[in-house]
Amino acid sequence: MALLKLRIVPDPVLRRKTRHVRDIDASIQRLVDDMLETMHYESGVGLAANQVGVLHRVAVIHLPEAEEPIVLINPEVLRREGQREVEEGCLSIPGYRAMLFRSVTVRVKAQDRNGKPIRIKAQELLAQALEHEIDHLNGILYIDHLESHEKLYKITEESEDPVEAGVG
Ligand code: NI
Repeated sequence: MALLKLRIVPDPVLRRKTRHVRDIDASIQRLVDDMLETMHYESGVGLAANQVGVLHRVAVIHLPEAEEPIVLINPEVLRREGQREVEEGCLSIPGYRAMLFRSVTVRVKAQDRNGKPIRIKAQELLAQALEHEIDHLNGILYIDHLESHEKLYKITEESEDPVEAGVG
């Protein structure tokens, strides 16, 4: 496994839409392993492939209390329900956070790392992370959901807690 270079705004790759993965081959397996290592190294809850400069539709999520990470290949949101206000940050926008609206319940379909179809019905931090990472794969950043950039605020080292902020 290898650590991948995290792309930071305004890197244009963060605005690119990623491409559907047809063959889940050895290079995709290696990408997944490297993304997991990079996400853990960066203390993120999630990571999308374009955040490491790769335009494949691949994301990983590892909730703080979960034993195993979730690998998502070709994920798509099927349905969103409700709205709630959450605090959010992003590994690609270091030092900032904002309050924004995310769905209460999210239904997602994807493939796992073996290509097996999976469906996830999620709430709370998992729902937030799924929306955040699938947004990334579509070239969307959480700041796009803000009514104005005044809603964005700087964080200090002491207040930095990725677990609480749904960072990915
Ligand atoms: Ni992010």
